[in-house]
Amino acid sequence: MAGCGLCFSLLLAAAFARQAQALWPWPQYIQTSDSHYAIFPYNFQFQYHVSSAAQPGCSVLDEAFQRYRDLLFGSSSWQPPEPTRKQHTPEKNSLVILVVLPGCDQLPSLESVENYTLVINDDHCFLLSQTVWGALRGLETFSQLIWRSPEGTFFINKTEIEDFPRFSHRGLLLDTSRHYLPLTSILDTLDVMAYNKFNVFHWHLVDDSSFPYESFTFPELTRKGSYNPVTHVYTAQDVKEVIEYARLRGIRVLAEFDTPGHTLSWGPGFPGLLTPCYSGSRPSGTFGPVNPILNTTYEFMSTFFLEVSSVFPDFYLHLGGDEVDFTCWRSNPDIQAFMKTKGFGNDFKQLESFYIQTLLNIISAYGKGYVVWQEVFDNKVKVPPDTIIQVWREEVPVNYLKELELITRAGLRALLSAPWYLNHITYGPDWRDLYVVEPLEFEGGAQQKALVIGGEACMWGEYVDSTNLVPRLWPRAAAVAERLWSNKSVTNLDLAFKRLTRFRCELLSLQTTG
Ligand SMILES: *[C@@H]1O[C@H](CO)[C@@H](O)[C@H](O)[C@H]1NC(C)=O
Repeated sequence: MAGCGLCFSLLLAAAFARQAQALWPWPQYIQTSDSHYAIFPYNFQFQYHVSSAAQPGCSVLDEAFQRYRDLLFGSSSWQPPEPTRKQHTPEKNSLVILVVLPGCDQLPSLESVENYTLVINDDHCFLLSQTVWGALRGLETFSQLIWRSPEGTFFINKTEIEDFPRFSHRGLLLDTSRHYLPLTSILDTLDVMAYNKFNVFHWHLVDDSSFPYESFTFPELTRKGSYNPVTHVYTAQDVKEVIEYARLRGIRVLAEFDTPGHTLSWGPGFPGLLTPCYSGSRPSGTFGPVNPILNTTYEFMSTFFLEVSSVFPDFYLHLGGDEVDFTCWRSNPDIQAFMKTKGFGNDFKQLESFYIQTLLNIISAYGKGYVVWQEVFDNKVKVPPDTIIQVWREEVPVNYLKELELITRAGLRALLSAPWYLNHITYGPDWRDLYVVEPLEFEGGAQQKALVIGGEACMWGEYVDSTNLVPRLWPRAAAVAERLWSNKSVTNLDLAFKRLTRFRCELLSLQTTG
């Protein structure tokens, strides 16, 4: 992206400081002026308002204060310069935070309110929010408002912001199966997600290629299904760390265990789980999707998902359900016989429905909600009315906007991902294509449109590992973040380009100081 020469020279001037005023995503309402206030790191503090429901000891905010202090003013080794007061600039020595509702020890959820109000004027330097999650969003915005003069003094302009997200589910998917991603890559991604006000980490943990999730009920799955059972796994401790790291940044962890397709790596660790494919009248030695006709399959799924339901505390699990290839099922004589007894004829979608419905019943009994890929809807699986359908196909069976229309007309909630596959790259500034998407541009009333709860940028891992993850993610994912947070009217590409360029520089400076 252009403008980075400028960025690096600015960086030299403002070593260890966040760049000035690269507000991203753009707030719902903002008023700024040229009047500004000086901030001196040595006497600046984040402070709880006396009547705030959150008080010192609130882990989410205490830790956020520390993070933002480091981001803004550098690490603890930072030496404060002598303030130059010759211009008599008024000074701000604290940001006062008032949170209305308690909830420091809770987890963020789909229903979490993220609204906040930020007021910086002659009388106040004040952040008001309903919840700690809103306070986190406000702190991020506050940090983006601070800029630094060539002499090195920090300033913040007189500003008033009323902000809230347009969509409540703003996600980013990482695929840790095609390539294993080290824990640090995941944690670093969570940091940058927070700068973008993303609030869902969709963790596509396992797939055909590898099974890095270390299950304690079925340890053989990882032992036989991971790339390396010592180095390329996520232990229970790793998973806990990811969930807590995300929580402290107001990010939910939506775990995906995709079945019945995309499961080849599950096979070696639980023989009998996958369907043996046939070549003529004999097994060919290869395997297909999960075998949907055996009781042992459902017993396995019950036990496995009981574990998963307790390990991942979010109300929602992602159950996959995409791209089920019927070839193997079709070749298998036992499956053919089962189809006959069930009266499914030659319609393998009915067999898929049978599997998914049985699985959904199991998960419902564990008190969990679920997200599934769009094929589950396209194949007319009867799903409970609170199911969330994720749209990933651009044109098949219909254009993704039409698909959103059909899903919401059926009264189901939807998530959009189809135009936001970040693993697809082209030369040049392709963030524009991601940015210009308008998720609600389909036929339907307000009630129907309210069923689109948000969307996700997806980073599939076939050609992505920890070496190229960061440049492929950022700043491109930021385009999606703004589309999902900011007002529908925020569509000016030139203004977005200017801010995104600065935001990219800011992310770079954070990476070099982090
Ligand atoms: C903040 O104040 C400075 C100095 O007065 C001014 O140059 C700048 O344009 C202001 N920024 C905004 C966003 O109002």
